Amino acid sequence: MDEEYDYIVLGTGLTECILSGLLSVEGKKVLHMDRNDYYGGDSASLNLTQLYRKFRGDQAAPSELGRDRDYAVDLVPKFIIASGELTKILVHTKVTDYLEFKQIAGSYVFRDGKISKVPSNEMEAVRSPLMGLFEKRRAKKFFEFLQGWKDEDPATHQGINLDRDSMKTVYEKFGLEPGTQDFIGHAMALYLDDDYITKSARPTYERIVLYTSSMARYGKSPYIYPLYGLGELPQAFARLSAVYGGTYMLDKPVDEIVTDADGKFVGVRSGPEVAKAKAVLGDPSYFGAGSGDGGKVRVVEEGKVIRAICVLKHPIPGTEDADSAQIIIPQNQVGRKNDIYIAIVSSTHNVCAKDVYIAIVSTIVETDRPEMEIAPGLQLLGQIYEKFVTVSPLYTPTSDGKADNIFITRSYDATSHFETVVEDVQDVWQRVIGSPLVLKKREDPEVQ
Ligand SMILES: *[C@@H]1O[C@H](CO)[C@@H](O)[C@H](O)[C@H]1NC(C)=O
Repeated sequence: MDEEYDYIVLGTGLTECILSGLLSVEGKKVLHMDRNDYYGGDSASLNLTQLYRKFRGDQAAPSELGRDRDYAVDLVPKFIIASGELTKILVHTKVTDYLEFKQIAGSYVFRDGKISKVPSNEMEAVRSPLMGLFEKRRAKKFFEFLQGWKDEDPATHQGINLDRDSMKTVYEKFGLEPGTQDFIGHAMALYLDDDYITKSARPTYERIVLYTSSMARYGKSPYIYPLYGLGELPQAFARLSAVYGGTYMLDKPVDEIVTDADGKFVGVRSGPEVAKAKAVLGDPSYFGAGSGDGGKVRVVEEGKVIRAICVLKHPIPGTEDADSAQIIIPQNQVGRKNDIYIAIVSSTHNVCAKDVYIAIVSTIVETDRPEMEIAPGLQLLGQIYEKFVTVSPLYTPTSDGKADNIFITRSYDATSHFETVVEDVQDVWQRVIGSPLVLKKREDPEVQ
C-alpha cells in the first residue's frame, strides 16, 4: 500500500464505488479501501446471520425463516428508476454485464386512509379509485396536457409557461384537489415535501415525464431492482474498477487522514503504512469526529432518517397481486412534513426465503420519538414477524474539498430511489475533475 495513486477512495458504499469505477475507466490509478471486511458499507445487503448479529447481538435467527444463504437484506431501501440517471450510468459503464434486474411489481400511494395504484397516464387516471368522477376528468386533462407538451409548439402550452409559472398555477388551471396534488407531487414527481409547489413548474413536469416514461418501459411500475439485493450494485462497480486496474483493500482500518502544513491532503495512514495520492474521496464516516481524522470538522449533521426493516410472512394487504412494491404516504395525508416510504421485496428478487417478505418503512425524523412517526407505515403491513429499527444521521460535507483535495460524499437520504445518489456522484465528479460527468448512450439493460 506504500505507493502513490491518483485517488484514494474510502468506503465501498454505492456512491464511492460508482466514483472509483468511473475514475478507473478514465485511466486514473485508484486505491479503494474499506474498514469493513465486506463491500457496500451502508449500501450492503446482509444475510440472515449478519442481520441478526447487527441488530440482536448473540440471538440467532429463528430457523423457521429458512436458509441463511437465501437472504440479502438491504440496509438502505431504494429502487432504480427505469429511465433514471443510475440506469444511464449502469449502461454507460456496462456494469449491467455483472447484474440481473427484475421489475418492481407495483407502485402505490396512500390517500384518505387506503392504498391504491398510482395512475401513470390519462387512461389509468380515468380508472383510478383515487379520485371521484369529476376529479378524474380534470386529472385526465392534466395528464393530456403534460403528454402533449412540446417546447417548440405554443399551441400545446395552453397559456402555461413551465419556466415562469409555478406548479401551483398549473394545479389551479386544471382545478386539481389537494389530495390529487399529493399523489402527483409525491408518488409521481417523488418530492419529499411540498416546497416544489411554489417553484417553477418545469422540474415537476420533467419528473412526472420521467415517471411515466419509466412506467411505460417495463409495464408494472417505473422501478427495477437487482437480483440478490442492492449490495450487488457497489460490488458490480468495484468489479468494474478492478477490471480497469483499481486496487481494493477490505478490512483495512483508516487511522489517519495525513495532511501537510497547509491542511492539504497528502495520504491515508493505516497502521504504519501511508498510501499517498493527489486527492481522497470518501463517505462521511471516514472524516471528522470519531474517525481517524479526529479533531477536524469536515461534516455536519443535517437531520436523521429512521428505517424499520420488517420481516413479514405475507404481502402487504391491498398489494396481494404484487411480489414487490413501493408505497408512498404523502406527508399531508398523515399530518407530517416529510413523506413515509415503504419498499417491499420478496423471494422473486432472491433476497429472502420463499413466502417471506422484507418491507422497509422509512422517513426523515421530525420529533424525538421517531418510531411513532413511522406508525402509519407500520400499520399498513399487517402482522410483523420481526422488526429491526435504525435511526441514522444524515451527514453532509462542510466544504467542496477543492482547497484541501478532500472530497466527501453525502449520507444516503430518505428518498426511495437512487436519483439523489447520482446527483451526489455528479457533484463530487465536478468538484474532483473540474468538468461535468458525461455519459454515453448505450442499449437499455435487459429486465425480466
Ligand atoms: C453469512 O454471513 C456470515 C458472516 O459474514 C458468513 O460467515 C456466512 O458464511 C454467510 N452465510 C452464507 C450462507 O453466505
